Amino acid sequence: MRVAVLGAGYVGATSAAVLAALGHHVTCVERDRSRLAIWRSGNDPLAEPGLTDLLHCVDLQFVGDGAEIATADLVIVAVGTPTGAGGMPDLAQLEDAAAQIGALARTGAVVLIRSTVPVGTCDRLQSGPLRRMRVVSNPEFLREGHALQDALAPDRIVAGGPSDARSIVEHLYRRVIEGRSLPAAIDPRGPVPFLWMSARSAELAKYAANGFLATKLSFVNEIANLAESVGADAGAVLESMGSDPRIGPQHLRPGLGWGGSCFPKDTRALQAIADGAGYDFIVLRAAIDQNTRQLGQFAAAIRRSVIPGGTVGLLGLAFKAGTPDTRESPAIALAHVLVRGGLSVRAFDPAVRALADDRGIEVRATVDEACAGADAVVIATEWPEFAALDLRALRNVTRGDLLFDGRSVISPQAAHAAGLRYIGPSGIEEEPTADVRLRGAA
Ligand code: UDX
Repeated sequence: MRVAVLGAGYVGATSAAVLAALGHHVTCVERDRSRLAIWRSGNDPLAEPGLTDLLHCVDLQFVGDGAEIATADLVIVAVGTPTGAGGMPDLAQLEDAAAQIGALARTGAVVLIRSTVPVGTCDRLQSGPLRRMRVVSNPEFLREGHALQDALAPDRIVAGGPSDARSIVEHLYRRVIEGRSLPAAIDPRGPVPFLWMSARSAELAKYAANGFLATKLSFVNEIANLAESVGADAGAVLESMGSDPRIGPQHLRPGLGWGGSCFPKDTRALQAIADGAGYDFIVLRAAIDQNTRQLGQFAAAIRRSVIPGGTVGLLGLAFKAGTPDTRESPAIALAHVLVRGGLSVRAFDPAVRALADDRGIEVRATVDEACAGADAVVIATEWPEFAALDLRALRNVTRGDLLFDGRSVISPQAAHAAGLRYIGPSGIEEEPTADVRLRGAA
């Protein structure tokens, strides 16, 4: 099929590369000139693992204008929908894309909306600028750092819109649905469920998944906080919970809070959608509030323990491990609170070498440079490098003996053995116990 993809961010570039690998004729349109130049030079401005290798194997054109829309059987919209007024997504880029498609695309072409949009957006486009086309909601569930795996072997494909578009969308994803011909680096999952529904259901399905995962994490953080307060071991409790297949072991690691380009934006939007519908979504509201409190309590514990004017060695700036992305990063939000509180923050992140807007955060090139002479070390991103730190060597370069592990990647016993006091995401100092702790579950 001839496919035009609008937007070469995470979702657009990954979708375009994967569809080209599946044998479709794909063109990806990017309006940002500097980002376009990077893609055209064969590099990946997003540093998504495996993506440049795949791009070198497929025939995919990155272009700056939308001329290809006119000949496409299918147009994919993957433009940004950042948070706008009142928590609702700002749809300016989507409206531009829709106007362009409405003017150029052939009658009957299928328009797949991959961008995350409020419920009812596809119906509105269908009866407005895209009335000659068939508008289908097709949300993505890509994790940064695993985008290729999630695109080529997803848990499910969700799509919804006019029923005569269904077979076209199924044809587009046929090889993914059948789980065949995947590149060797991809872990096959067998046949993939293709879930066809109304456009509104597909739009809500995306928010529901991210809202639930964020709520799961807020609940996990509450349990971990409570465990500290009642003398239980959070790791042991969560390991037990994760053994129940109805709960599952993933997204169970306590931390200083969830962040990134999706969870904060999508939970705010879901809340705004519920408010707009006159529905009081109390569980979601609590999950969002808990996330704010989680970071606040961790920051407060650091500020209580470190002398005024003291220095913090901050390990991690990315919003999670495996990506250089710092959008809505809890690590950076924490650093700003500490800097505003009068502490010096020297940070190291394996993937983030500079910050466009550092607001007082000093970025250093190694763990040792960040932590030399520090009164406290704070782990704020779950990089495996930090889980594998030589804690005795770390203790030798720091001035103080405080280790704040905001990502639950170090065992308190190991910290104590190295002469460090251990404080987890709850902000309460932990004594070492013999219990098994849940480490590294992502
Ligand atoms: C998320 C969803 O997982 C993906 O399906 C979706 O469509 C886009 O949003 P992503 O934002 O890439 O993906 O990150 P994810 O791995 O879900 O982590 C989000 C945040 O939760 C990070 O800040 C991470 O550190 C935190 N997290 C994750 C935890 O605190 N504990 C965990 O166990 C897992």
